[in-house]
Amino acid sequence: MRKISSETVRADFNDPLAVVHYTRAAHFLGLWESERILIERHFPDRTAPLLEAGCGAGRASVGLWQQGYTNLTAFDFAEELLDQARSLAANRGVKNEITFLSADATDLTKCHPLGDTLFSGALFLFNGLMQIPGRANRQMALRELHRVCASGAPLLVTTHDRDYSPVERAMWRLETLRWERGDQDPRLVEFGDRYFADEHGRTFMHLPDRAEILADLAATGWTHEFDAMRAEIARESDAVRDFSDECRFWVARK
Ligand SMILES: C[S@@+](CC[C@H](N)C(=O)[O-])C[C@H]1O[C@@H](n2cnc3c(N)ncnc32)[C@H](O)[C@@H]1O
Repeated sequence: MRKISSETVRADFNDPLAVVHYTRAAHFLGLWESERILIERHFPDRTAPLLEAGCGAGRASVGLWQQGYTNLTAFDFAEELLDQARSLAANRGVKNEITFLSADATDLTKCHPLGDTLFSGALFLFNGLMQIPGRANRQMALRELHRVCASGAPLLVTTHDRDYSPVERAMWRLETLRWERGDQDPRLVEFGDRYFADEHGRTFMHLPDRAEILADLAATGWTHEFDAMRAEIARESDAVRDFSDECRFWVARK
């Protein structure tokens, strides 16, 4: 059986079920309260050039624009989602404050419109970074974001946390036994990966522990500044909690 690759993930995000799910969130949810709080805290200059990786259907980029941010570049590698992002932005009245681009986070050199812009900050929200299969590839994406950011720029990322709850820890102990016996899902790339299907389509997700992200930030040039679980930052609405499980927010600085 073939391992999950970035092509698998891209196809899953271009699938109509996923497109409807993320488009609905972009239209009706917008920024989460926790995102809004951290963005205001760490990205105070609303005119500074910011880069959003994995923008999907535009939930966060259009949300940022609604918060007054005027110099946004947002990219994704799923064309169907990008189409939805462009159309949402046009419907909401965005003029030239957001540029949507097609790009793969692991190699931004191929995205020529990015040119040699140095961004004042970068975001990879809603666990998008963790949907890149392979730790080396996730590190490549972190390195690319570091390369295109100016010195002092903040990075805001979310991930799951494998060790957060007793239930999760018990589940991952069972998964450890599966990997020790070689009984894991053969499509998975690494321990910590999950690949599942539900009414919103198929999802690949790597669930790291805290030590892994601290090590990856350090290995890619980022200085860790802050991390906390979402529930410690804000109480989200039921709609947001239905859309997305608990996650850990990370802020790092170049
Ligand atoms: C969970 S979705 C989040 C979408 C949007 N940011 C939101 O919060 O609704 C993750 C996004 O990351 C994108 N993504 C995953 N891997 C990527 C890569 N290597 N390059 C660019 N985008 C990627 C997916 O296409 C998807 O749109």
